Amino acid sequence: MANDASAVFDTLSPAVSRGSLADSFTPPADSTLWRKNFLLGAATASYQIEGAVNEDGRLPSIWDTFSAIPGKVLAGDTGAVACDHYHRWEADVEMLASLGLEGYRLSIAWPRVMDAAGAPNRKGLDFYKRLLNRLKEKGITTFVTLYHWDLPQHLEDRGGWLNRDTAYRFADYADLMSRELAGTVDAWATLNEPWCSAYLGYGNGHHAPGLANDRFATQAMHHLLLAHGLAVPVLRANDPASQKGIVANIGRGTPNSDSAADQRAAHLFEVQHNAWILDPLLKGSYPQDLFELWPGTEPLVLDGDMQTISAPLDFLGINYYFRTNVASDGAHGFRDVPLEGVERTQMGWEVYPDGLRDLLTGFKKTYRNLPPIYITENGMASDDQVTDGHVEDTQRISFLKRHLAAVDQAIKAGVDIRGYFLWSLMDNFEWAFGYERRFGVVHVDYSTQKRTIKRSAELVEKFLKERKARA
Ligand code: FCB
Repeated sequence: MANDASAVFDTLSPAVSRGSLADSFTPPADSTLWRKNFLLGAATASYQIEGAVNEDGRLPSIWDTFSAIPGKVLAGDTGAVACDHYHRWEADVEMLASLGLEGYRLSIAWPRVMDAAGAPNRKGLDFYKRLLNRLKEKGITTFVTLYHWDLPQHLEDRGGWLNRDTAYRFADYADLMSRELAGTVDAWATLNEPWCSAYLGYGNGHHAPGLANDRFATQAMHHLLLAHGLAVPVLRANDPASQKGIVANIGRGTPNSDSAADQRAAHLFEVQHNAWILDPLLKGSYPQDLFELWPGTEPLVLDGDMQTISAPLDFLGINYYFRTNVASDGAHGFRDVPLEGVERTQMGWEVYPDGLRDLLTGFKKTYRNLPPIYITENGMASDDQVTDGHVEDTQRISFLKRHLAAVDQAIKAGVDIRGYFLWSLMDNFEWAFGYERRFGVVHVDYSTQKRTIKRSAELVEKFLKERKARA
């Protein structure tokens, strides 16, 4: 296989003119992306775009609490207003449809739809009903994530994901949502990125609720995966026609040298980022190497849990952003060794499309029961400016093109990949980085809430139009 999805676009510079970029964005004629059943959409998440945190009976979430603590989020930003999508959803759906995007991945704010006693909050539910009904009217395929990190604070007050009971509360929430929203959801994802919830939330404290203990991380992960496993049969019973899955972020770890120690370090990096989640889901067991990395952190697992967690999935959502170059830390772990002279984004993340292809083809070998895959997030942040009503997000155009080429290569190598969602539809609250990091294909001016379509979105639209027009 050609070893290089990046070669195609390496030469792009910000000076590239609009015309030539437009021409070069469209995938090559032999690309599988021309297939009309390859779904192309965009993704968002409730806390990152909705705002309206105190309206219509919404309860506080762990992100309201966390972002209010000085020093936790850049510039003291919070999701209180965000993109004001709770009020502007109709115009946002129009925008999504006008771009020709075929799919929309959104998430539901658990604290908006259920009160602390578990009773439905009608006003919150109605918001999602209106939104999903409108999306269906527009012919847009809907992917709904039940948990994209905004845990109700009252559950965190009782231990959050360290408390096994939270998994059962999640199954109740999944039950309510799938009874209420059946028929408007094409695909349900239980969780978004349990790695981030467990590790960043409970392992290193960079995300809400801000706890830092490896033992907490493994126990939180177990309860998150249990929540997923308990929810899947509930979703199947209430909404049989829809697809059910989960979304995992995956990380590529490459060794800094050929030494056995560095190779082992890269292996452990991938165990910690990928196998920690995918092994329980697809093999029904935790990878033992994880406990070489974090000795003594085995979670408490009850009889039957692993069967519950490894129930068959209709799809696996994959979020991919960058690779990490690592070396041995001299003990039983790894340390990051950032490479010099490589292309990076506003996040400092290395642009490395081959990592996406290599991980996908690797999973196909490792997991014989690998479900059909959707790339549920991929994209990059750049410091985009509006000039004369336009945003020339050149690096993003190049980034998307190269990552889509990597997806095409993985499909050609036999991986069943059915769609791709851009992260994100619009600039939004980027967690610990607040509003400074702009991931959207649509620019948001937070002082006016004006949306400006970036050049990248125009080019995606152009490609989708061309694809639709083909016989
Ligand atoms: C992922 C999250 C998403 C967004 C992107 C940049 O980890 O799922 O909400 O913040 O990163």
